[in-house]
Amino acid sequence: MTIGLDDVVAAETVLSHVDGEAGRLIIRGYDLEELAGRVPFEDVVAILWEGLVPHGAADPRALLGRARERAYGYFAPLAPQLSALTPVEGMRLLLASLPDADEDHPALAVGAAGVAAAMAVRGARGLAPVAPDASLSHAADTLRMMRDAPVGESEAKALDTYLVTVIDHGLNASTFTARVVASTQAGILSSVVAGLCALKGPLHGGAPGPVLDMLDAIGPIGNAEAWLDDAMARGERLMGFGHRIYRVRDPRADVLKAAAGRLRDKDNRIAFAEAVEATALKVLERRKPGRRLETNVEFYTAILLDALGIPREGFTPLFAAGRTAGWVAHAIEQTRLGRIIRPKSRYVGAWPAQAA
Ligand code: CMC
Repeated sequence: MTIGLDDVVAAETVLSHVDGEAGRLIIRGYDLEELAGRVPFEDVVAILWEGLVPHGAADPRALLGRARERAYGYFAPLAPQLSALTPVEGMRLLLASLPDADEDHPALAVGAAGVAAAMAVRGARGLAPVAPDASLSHAADTLRMMRDAPVGESEAKALDTYLVTVIDHGLNASTFTARVVASTQAGILSSVVAGLCALKGPLHGGAPGPVLDMLDAIGPIGNAEAWLDDAMARGERLMGFGHRIYRVRDPRADVLKAAAGRLRDKDNRIAFAEAVEATALKVLERRKPGRRLETNVEFYTAILLDALGIPREGFTPLFAAGRTAGWVAHAIEQTRLGRIIRPKSRYVGAWPAQAA
């Protein structure tokens, strides 16, 4: 029996495949590198949803634009509540408020996730929400709504690359969660909210904020080795490293590193991150020999999103904004199967006293 489901195949999917030994991520027949930075997010959503969502391929940019506007209509009355919540809690509140009756179109979930991420980040800082502009790309509009400032072409492209990079990734914890909920026929929006709840933990989608905290705490690069060594001696995990599936470098890390490299490198942040990465890999190999702990997606997510001027507490909401398209697709795929996911547990507790 496998505790924790390692190596158990719990679903068949046409959506994505993670090859942890080759360091390869395939999304609907394309290598990640063929899509990220080359095909706009909206078109990748249409590719991902082909055969699952009836109108997924019809002008996907307009579809998501309209979905953002519709979502904003639902969310605007909730804005005053956001100042008491962290951004990821605020996003959970907003997405949970969408009525199932309006879930005919999965686009609503994806449009809503961009709006919710932006509103929740602003709301947590006590700032008023910015209404969507349906004429913009999903990435440009999400960034504009979050920062309330014009978005340059290279910035929009960088966020677009990010959203595509995280769109789907096999049966990770949040996607599995979304599929379990969908398997009960609970619906797409409930599956998405459940996915977000699983994603928010630091072992899954909550890591990129702490990556920046780590870079800040290290201080000058000369401190890196001693700092990282001390952290590991205390039994801490180095954020942005290690992965359940990848035993080589996470391919998403390189895509994001390249995208970050195309942005203005204020304060030599990228060069610093590269130096910390190299040191961390050395320390990990020394402290955990043979475990093959490599850089994961979160390390360069932190660098890229920081360079876009996004506060670190907004990183997980943006991860969720990209991943929502994957959760939706998995929810539909699972719902169509019509079979509830219901594994067993092994009872190791006490038994009632036997009658004499
Ligand atoms: N720093 C230090 N030690 C580590 C790390 C790390 N980042 N990751 C794993 N280890 C250790 C772990 O403690 C274990 O040690 P031992 O064998 O002595 O008990 C050994 O390496 C093997 O761990 P594993 O079984 O390969 O790790 P796992 O599959 O249980 O955990 C992980 C995977 C991602 C939760 C873990 O690597 C981690 O906590 N990383 C830091 C947090 C992080 O970056 N999360 C983002 C993950 S990528 C986003 C996503 O796709 O969800």
